[in-house]
Amino acid sequence: MGYTYHLPSRRNPFGEDVIEWEQSEIIDFTEYKVTMKVLVATEKPFAKKAVDGIKGICAEAGYQVVMLEKYTDKAELLAAVEDVDAMIVRSDKVTADVLAAAKQLKIVVRAGAGYDNVDLAAASERGVVVMNTPGQNSNAVAELAIGMMIYMSRNQFTPGTGYELQGKTVGIHAYGNVGRLVGRKAKALGMNVIAYDPFVTDRALFENDGVEPVGSVDELYAASDFLSLHIPATEQTKKSIGYKLLMSMPKGATLVNTARKEVIDEAGLEAAMSERLDLKYVTDIAPNDVESMVARFGNRFFATPKKMGAETAEANINAGLAAARQIVEFFEKGITKFQVNK
Ligand SMILES: NC(=O)c1ccc[n+]([C@@H]2O[C@H](COP(=O)([O-])OP(=O)(O)OC[C@H]3O[C@@H](n4cnc5c(N)ncnc54)[C@H](O)[C@@H]3O)[C@@H](O)[C@H]2O)c1
Repeated sequence: MGYTYHLPSRRNPFGEDVIEWEQSEIIDFTEYKVTMKVLVATEKPFAKKAVDGIKGICAEAGYQVVMLEKYTDKAELLAAVEDVDAMIVRSDKVTADVLAAAKQLKIVVRAGAGYDNVDLAAASERGVVVMNTPGQNSNAVAELAIGMMIYMSRNQFTPGTGYELQGKTVGIHAYGNVGRLVGRKAKALGMNVIAYDPFVTDRALFENDGVEPVGSVDELYAASDFLSLHIPATEQTKKSIGYKLLMSMPKGATLVNTARKEVIDEAGLEAAMSERLDLKYVTDIAPNDVESMVARFGNRFFATPKKMGAETAEANINAGLAAARQIVEFFEKGITKFQVNK
């Protein structure tokens, strides 16, 4: 006769661990579970529903959740990471010094698609797994991209004659989660959709959506009345969209950027827009030179005051819950499906 030892399976109202004993044949130490500490560090907090969901998923697994919201000083983040096993972040910067301060950290999940805010090399060096939550906010971004096309084709809703999307060609630069949804929505609006993504080798992916793949970036821009950008910011793509590509676009073309600011060569963009008075640029990630661009380009340029592609209640909740689930699956089952620093 022995005892099975469950620790700590729940807490009493005073926050103390309640240790439950029950009789069994042998002492089963595999039942012993150390509570994981999960930090949710968000300068821009999640919606309440997302926070409640994260807490629920973690509580079910017996994990403790620590919240650090709306912090303004990096020192607060450095202090908060000290004893946590896992972290959920949004656009928060997880730099080498944050990772160095997080002595117990095993996993960081970026609730979102892009993960250029996490120092992947420093994480790998410390054996910390980094994941994103791909696809969870894609619909929000895709809807915004389509909305931006309409906004620009109707002169930013100021009086005057605009034009329609139907019958125009939209080029999708990168056919990933967001690009695909933009492609499908654009088809439904009666647009001709072409796309370029050298890493999508299965033509059926394009064909099933009624989308025509093209063979090069040059070909894509030269044929696109609207160009919707969905490339990640990598060493290869940073500053890759500039003067030459913009100058090759058809008359009255609009570049829509809901990807990343860093992929634009701003000097090249401004030069092209100064030279060609028909070109338009719309984005949810304001360029460095935003004020001067508003003054110089008027209705041909628009940037949202804050990044807002993924700012919907649905995307917020989807990404937050996916991050919590991925952490539990990582600790409980060793699942690393969405690891980005392999
Ligand atoms: N505005 C926002 O709030 C917001 C929200 C989510 C994502 N994003 C940005 O949008 C980008 C796309 O998001 P996603 O969820 O579709 O990512 P994803 O990873 O699903 O797709 C990215 C695609 O880019 C392709 N790609 C990579 N390098 C390329 C290159 N050099 N040329 C052409 N294609 C290339 C990949 O093959 C992949 O298909 C993200 O990287 C992120 O930076 C912005």
